[in-house]
Amino acid sequence: MCGIVGYIGKQKASPILLAGLSKLEYRGYDSAGIATIEKNEIKVVKDKGFVENLYNLDETKELEGSIGIAHTRWATHGIPSRINSHPHMDNSKHFSVVHNGIIENYIELKEFLEKNGYNFISETDTEVIPNLIDYYYKNDKKDDDYKVLRAVNSACNKLIGSFALEVLSTYIPNNMIVVRKDSPLVIGKGTHENYIASDIPAILSYTKDFYLLDNFEYVVLSRDDLKFYDKNLNEISKESTTITWDAMAADKAGYSDYMLKEIMEQPTAIRETIGSRLDKPKCDFSELNFTKEYLSTLKQIYIVACGTAMHTGLAVKNTLEDLCKIHVQVDIASEFRYRNPLIDDKTLCIFISQSGETADTLAALKISKEHGAKTIAITNVMGSSISREADYALYTHAGPEIAVASTKAYTSQTTLFILLIIYFAEVLERYDISKLEELKKDLLDIPRKVELVLKDTNNLKPIVESLFKENDVFYLGRGIDYATSQEASLKLKEISYIHSESYAAGELKHGTIALIEKGINVIGIMTDENLVKKTLSNIEEVITRGAVTTIVVTESISKKIDLSIFTHKIILPDIMTNLSPILTIIPLQLIAYYVSKEKGLDVDKPRNLAKSVTVE
Ligand code: AGP
Repeated sequence: MCGIVGYIGKQKASPILLAGLSKLEYRGYDSAGIATIEKNEIKVVKDKGFVENLYNLDETKELEGSIGIAHTRWATHGIPSRINSHPHMDNSKHFSVVHNGIIENYIELKEFLEKNGYNFISETDTEVIPNLIDYYYKNDKKDDDYKVLRAVNSACNKLIGSFALEVLSTYIPNNMIVVRKDSPLVIGKGTHENYIASDIPAILSYTKDFYLLDNFEYVVLSRDDLKFYDKNLNEISKESTTITWDAMAADKAGYSDYMLKEIMEQPTAIRETIGSRLDKPKCDFSELNFTKEYLSTLKQIYIVACGTAMHTGLAVKNTLEDLCKIHVQVDIASEFRYRNPLIDDKTLCIFISQSGETADTLAALKISKEHGAKTIAITNVMGSSISREADYALYTHAGPEIAVASTKAYTSQTTLFILLIIYFAEVLERYDISKLEELKKDLLDIPRKVELVLKDTNNLKPIVESLFKENDVFYLGRGIDYATSQEASLKLKEISYIHSESYAAGELKHGTIALIEKGINVIGIMTDENLVKKTLSNIEEVITRGAVTTIVVTESISKKIDLSIFTHKIILPDIMTNLSPILTIIPLQLIAYYVSKEKGLDVDKPRNLAKSVTVE
């Protein structure tokens, strides 16, 4: 996710801006930039790479301005490069803007502006914003102190998507204007100075008094004053909030643990991972140049990863085979690398890794390349070893995942992989249009459904209470629900230290059911309408043997079965089966989290585990 910092006061802005960006590095980025105003001129210093690179540049040291904006960019539109970095300027260089979010209608806006004489130098969506502001400024005949504010408001009213904006203008050299919609932005109140940031940690060392902006609230900042306006530019008053967090707590944005913060960030992470890929009629993977001929010759696709990342492969395997009619094998990297897999140039190998540094996955990738396979990496960290080694790198935009137990990376990886499958199906022209359109529509609606599930956690408490003293828990499912049950089981194990086992529901009776006895906890997952009857009978088998059961079902399935036979139930919004792992895992992540907290364990740093296993 991008990061934004701003400063207006008596001090030199650049050191404060860079320090703020450094505090936002945890959000992940590939480029950084700052802009300040001095002597009515906007000066911009920006480049691909890390914040520390900016510190050492002479141009940075020469920045004397005491008003400035700053940005760390996580590329969504356009590759990481100096030109695509923020801040962006309009053609006349009267406006400079930094932006966090995604402008979904930037293509139309770009065409409109080009028709009105504007030209563009970057590949970004953001560059339309300063030029749109300039367009409205130049077409506003009323010359008064609010002209820039009106231009910003007019431009924002044309934007579709999410945005947190900071705007500098040579027309108001002693002010800055900010506004947000869906992307976060906070204002820190100082004495004869004011601060702006994407989140509180970036500026908490300067002030404890914050204004938390709501959507479409505009702020005109001066050194000694903050003026707030609503979307119709009526002046409004806002109460400030005093933050009592310490610095460490602030990095968790007020959550008690990184894991809970990252579970709650999933709607944003999924939304940003989808980005603009579904804006055009066909799913956009401009990073890839696959042809119908190449994909049609593939004999096999391997999905290779470890742990949760491997569970993503299990979650998407059936969808990939179903839509693309290519054999798919999901492999644990540490197994794949030593079993001399059958690989040649008719094999495509896809490697999934949150960190992009997992040793087994990296080794498997190198072996695949040696045997002539094309390789794709799906990772959350730009510039990671796996992303650099693979022929193609695709990025989730989950933002850095700090907690050892992976949550938002899993749902983002699964989302990105489904998008990739849609792309493959469209390139192959091997798809049922209605099914693909339904898949795209449901995918775009997932963040909303995840938000609903994250809000509805009251029913989890009794489940947590029935689990946290247990020594053994079983997770059952069939098909895609079996894949989800494997991720759910790992979550519980790795942060609560309770032994749990994921089992294919239909396989239980072939031996393992001998372990089922009175009082043992079994969590059943049923989201596939075609398998309900079979899975239900397997769960009834454990109920008759005295198991305490929790059932996870969709709304429509819940209406077709007798829920009273289960001890606990979790009912999810309806969702296409192909996408169900992204939603089903949410309550199961939370259950694992709350069980670990109930046991007083270190949920972010479980014993024996590392966030990235960079050794064999
Ligand atoms: C998942 O919660 C674990 N942290 C672990 O299984 C992890 O998914 C695995 O080590 C792979 O890591 P990677 O995605 O960074 O390659």
